[in-house]
Amino acid sequence: MKVAIAAETRSGERRVALVPNLVSRLTGAGFEVAVEPGAGAAAHHSDDDYRAAGADVTPDAVSGAAALLGVQPPTEAQVDTLADHAVVISFLPPAQELGLVTTLRDANVSAFSMELVPRTSRAQSMDALSSQALVAGYRCAIVAAERLPRFFPLLMTAAGTVAPAKVLVLGAGVAGLQAIATARRLGAVVRAYDVRAAAAEEVRSVGAEFVELELPPLEGAGGYAREMTEDRAAKQLELLAPHVAEADALITTAAVPGRRAPLLVTREMVAAMRPGSVVVDLAAEQGGNVEGAVPGEEIAVGGVRVWGGANVPSQMPAQASQLYSTNVVNLLLHMASEGKLALDLDDDIVSGCCVTHDGKVHHAPTRELLS
Ligand SMILES: NC(=O)c1ccc[n+]([C@@H]2O[C@H](COP(=O)([O-])OP(=O)(O)OC[C@H]3O[C@@H](n4cnc5c(N)ncnc54)[C@H](O)[C@@H]3O)[C@@H](O)[C@H]2O)c1
Repeated sequence: MKVAIAAETRSGERRVALVPNLVSRLTGAGFEVAVEPGAGAAAHHSDDDYRAAGADVTPDAVSGAAALLGVQPPTEAQVDTLADHAVVISFLPPAQELGLVTTLRDANVSAFSMELVPRTSRAQSMDALSSQALVAGYRCAIVAAERLPRFFPLLMTAAGTVAPAKVLVLGAGVAGLQAIATARRLGAVVRAYDVRAAAAEEVRSVGAEFVELELPPLEGAGGYAREMTEDRAAKQLELLAPHVAEADALITTAAVPGRRAPLLVTREMVAAMRPGSVVVDLAAEQGGNVEGAVPGEEIAVGGVRVWGGANVPSQMPAQASQLYSTNVVNLLLHMASEGKLALDLDDDIVSGCCVTHDGKVHHAPTRELLS
């Protein structure tokens, strides 16, 4: 059975869904691997690397494939050329891709969304949201350190003592915790806030001080945050304002699944930061935690630089691809037996991330959206 890796076509995507050193996991399990020429180039993997690893590098990689692995969702043209009842595994936010979902359904493709892999212990090795958030969180701290025109660490020198930079992290999920840990390793004094009750202990465990606000925790289903009410949002802005004003670098990573990112910092709050301060908004593509942040751009608010993230994991494409490929291969092999795909829709992982199967939309919320 042929497993295809297509070259990513969406603008700014530098990752690849299978790195050469994981080809042998698929060939060893009885699959053939076909890779489109140049598929790994932006992640620093050449066609020769894939050939040496045992893959066939061919422009016809996708044609007739039983499985297609991607980072971004497939194109309609790719779906058309797959084998009957093929499997597609990629990031696929179904609510934002309803047209593609109907194409996948009508083509009898079994499509699996990496966003929908359950966040359970059993599925941890397939959790691409976590692996890519880890990369993004690290990168945010590095971007803040690079843009901040001052030291991160405390320095005691013959010319005097330099105080460490003060970093504030808002949103302490996977990305936020990695941003905290990285900023701490660079020597900054880090404080952080999150609405989930469990976050306080997690923040302390990576060496930061948890900012206690006079607000109740806000938790939704599955250990995630809930959307804020207008009152709560206004109160949180007011309580966070002095902490933001005090920070040299502010890193925001707050998100609520399926919703616009919560607005945590207004333009006035940014303008009240000291000139030379830096803001890094990882949530810029989801609507932004920081008012005015533009994905993929840096803007100035007074003397403060505001950097908006856009596909941040792609800024470290080799390692982001390595981690993502591991997640995807683990999911594919979870659904395979003796070189063949054996989809068990009673398995909670397989069922949880299945968007379309057997000519139907399997993911109930997407089915509702379409009806
Ligand atoms: N295998 C597992 O069990 C597993 C794997 C990954 C993550 N998780 C858990 O999922 C949770 C979050 O994961 P994530 O990083 O993908 O979340 P996420 O990307 O959805 O959100 C990022 C963070 O933003 C926070 N946030 C939301 N609204 C906020 C607001 N108004 N103000 C401040 N912060 C706000 C959230 O609480 C979260 O911590 C964590 O509890 C994490 O431990 C569990």
